[in-house]
Amino acid sequence: MLEKVLFSEEQIAKRVGELAQELSDSYPPGSEVVLVGLLKGSLMLMADLSRKMTIPSTIDFMTLSSYSGTNTTGSVKVKKDLDMNPAGRHIVVVEDLVDTGTTLAWLLPYIKSKAPASLKLVTLLNKAERRKHEVKIDFCGFPCPDEFVVGYGMDFNEQFRTLPFVGVLKPSAYANPSPIEGPASL
Ligand code: IMP
Ligand code: MG
Repeated sequence: MLEKVLFSEEQIAKRVGELAQELSDSYPPGSEVVLVGLLKGSLMLMADLSRKMTIPSTIDFMTLSSYSGTNTTGSVKVKKDLDMNPAGRHIVVVEDLVDTGTTLAWLLPYIKSKAPASLKLVTLLNKAERRKHEVKIDFCGFPCPDEFVVGYGMDFNEQFRTLPFVGVLKPSAYANPSPIEGPASL
């Protein structure tokens, strides 16, 4: 099923530790941040990043939908909004992968319109070649080749999220998508 491992568990742990430190250091002393994870893909990064932060943080989640199978549909819907009011707070959006940029080109202005004290974006992976909508990434784990990846929270039709590493599936794994394919959580 898997063609290769792109980023090992050890590589990810090391890089996420660095990201947590850089992110923590980017705020003035005494700051508290709200980590906003995009479900479901960010689950592993949220868990690891939040535990490595060296400044106080709280967590919230959003569920957006725009992704189906291996192609983006281009439309974004809010399936679960923020529980807290971002006004006046330091918000950090935590994403698994920036691909076409469709999701974040919509989400970042949406959060900004609610007047946060600041807004930053951290993503584990960046597929820069695939960008259709410009997105300013503040903190990025690794550049990602233009290949469909799974693991460490990322799925193909809800499979493979629980792998502790990021890998690439063999083309045969998604040549015949199962009938459950459809709008899914990012
Ligand atoms: P975007 O809106 O095209 O930037 O991407 C939206 C989301 O699609 C990403 O945050 C991922 O959750 C998901 N996605 C994009 N590429 C992949 C991939 O290669 N594997 C798994 N999920 C992906
Ligand atoms: Mg995502």
